[in-house]
Amino acid sequence: MSKNNAARSQGMGALQIYEEIKRQILGGVFGSAGQLPSSRALAHELGVSRTTVTAAYEQLLAEGFIEVQQGARPRVACAVVGPSRNKTGSKRSVRTRLSAYGEHVRKIPPWSDKELGRLVVDFRHGDLASSDFPVTLWKRLMNKAMDRRPERLSYDDPRGSRRLRMALQGYLWRARTIRCDLDQIIIVNGSQQGLDLCARLLLDATDRFVIENPCYAMARQIFSGTGASPVSIPVDDDGLNTDLLAEIDARLAYVTPSHQFPLGGVMPISRRHQLLRWATRRNANVIEDDYDSEYRYDINPVAPLHGLENSDNVIYLGTISKTLSPTLRIGYLVVPPGLQDVFATAKELADRHSPVAEQEALAALIESGAYESHLRRVRRLNHERREILLNALRHRFGDKVAIEGADAGLHIVVWFKDLPGSLEAALLEKAHRAGVGVHTISRLYDQGAHGVRTDRIGLVMGYAALDARRIERGIQLLAEAIKQVRFARKPVPPT
Ligand SMILES: Cc1ncc(COP(=O)(O)O)c(C=O)c1O
Repeated sequence: MSKNNAARSQGMGALQIYEEIKRQILGGVFGSAGQLPSSRALAHELGVSRTTVTAAYEQLLAEGFIEVQQGARPRVACAVVGPSRNKTGSKRSVRTRLSAYGEHVRKIPPWSDKELGRLVVDFRHGDLASSDFPVTLWKRLMNKAMDRRPERLSYDDPRGSRRLRMALQGYLWRARTIRCDLDQIIIVNGSQQGLDLCARLLLDATDRFVIENPCYAMARQIFSGTGASPVSIPVDDDGLNTDLLAEIDARLAYVTPSHQFPLGGVMPISRRHQLLRWATRRNANVIEDDYDSEYRYDINPVAPLHGLENSDNVIYLGTISKTLSPTLRIGYLVVPPGLQDVFATAKELADRHSPVAEQEALAALIESGAYESHLRRVRRLNHERREILLNALRHRFGDKVAIEGADAGLHIVVWFKDLPGSLEAALLEKAHRAGVGVHTISRLYDQGAHGVRTDRIGLVMGYAALDARRIERGIQLLAEAIKQVRFARKPVPPT
């Protein structure tokens, strides 16, 4: 390099360092009066000469961004205030033009953890007790899976580990009488990815889809994201009211027939046949979300849609989020033979395949029989939790509440007969203040459709993450919150 070039390159380096540090100072990265690295440390870190860093620091000093005292590291000058950047130093947000899907997503409130850990008791549905998870066994199986070292690390089969698919094939036959070929099973990152693949592959913006009302909101959101229109069908004690399907032309129906989410009805066989006949006639697919069928307490198992006559259009969806942990993100689809290749390719396009070691560990867990013994254990534990919750509710509220969906699953719906829907916001606020997290059913309804109940407040109460003490305390806090709501509602007598 010529002398001139070397000098220029040194000068440019100093300019870049100056620009970057100025950006960081204005962005508040060092805080007010925060210390910058010494010129020696920064030069070493950036792989440039100390003279280059000193030149950058001198420029910052001359412009008043930093202050330097003999023998100390430079500091951000007290007077510096970031004029155009926010605290984290990131750029101001510009409203970017999004796709139709992006605009749909933009309307959904973003995930927030601000409630987590702040409440004394949270009846949020979907969480499990970490003490139920077989930690020691899982660690051992994960270590084993990690120890198996192939010569090269390559992308795997998008359908998932063959070993896991074989283990699930046997499990589905034993537990759910589902018979399928290995190639029909596709491992996904939780049911949510299964629903996402169904939405992408089966729906166009001009289509309609049938959905239960009330329903699993994540399913409605994901199908609506395609631009397709929901046809909300009311649910009763027997799940989706299939009598109302006859005239409906839709591309697919999403159902939870084993334990309707959230109301808990189990769809009887006559309705199952009616639904399948409708799907065959309309050439529509039925997505059967079998999210928590492992938990049945006082009822006999009902065969899934997948195993019935005329079930060629059924896409079965299972998950380990209710049996092991929602954090593992493992679910599975059983797709009709005609769709197995397109689903496998869509999965590959989405994320190549699900993480391999977890799949191998799960396969080993199922093969050894430990998964099914774990299921027996957690079924018993959750049965006990359910009893404690039901007793606590009966004790505190007596016949002021009506309970639905307690025969199966990990949540119940509690209707407060004397609390009209108009008091919902007040109840949420009072309960929150008291430290108990409760979740209303109203947000799971398509509010525009008929059959929405506003005459009373309904709560969806999950109990699988709570021990006896917390369940009882939670109901006590809820009772106090309800008392306050009732009291605030009482008209003040004229003086
Ligand atoms: C109806 C329904 N389906 C599926 C799931 C599980 O989803 P995932 O497997 O994505 O964790 C839930 C979780 O709460 C659910 O309520």
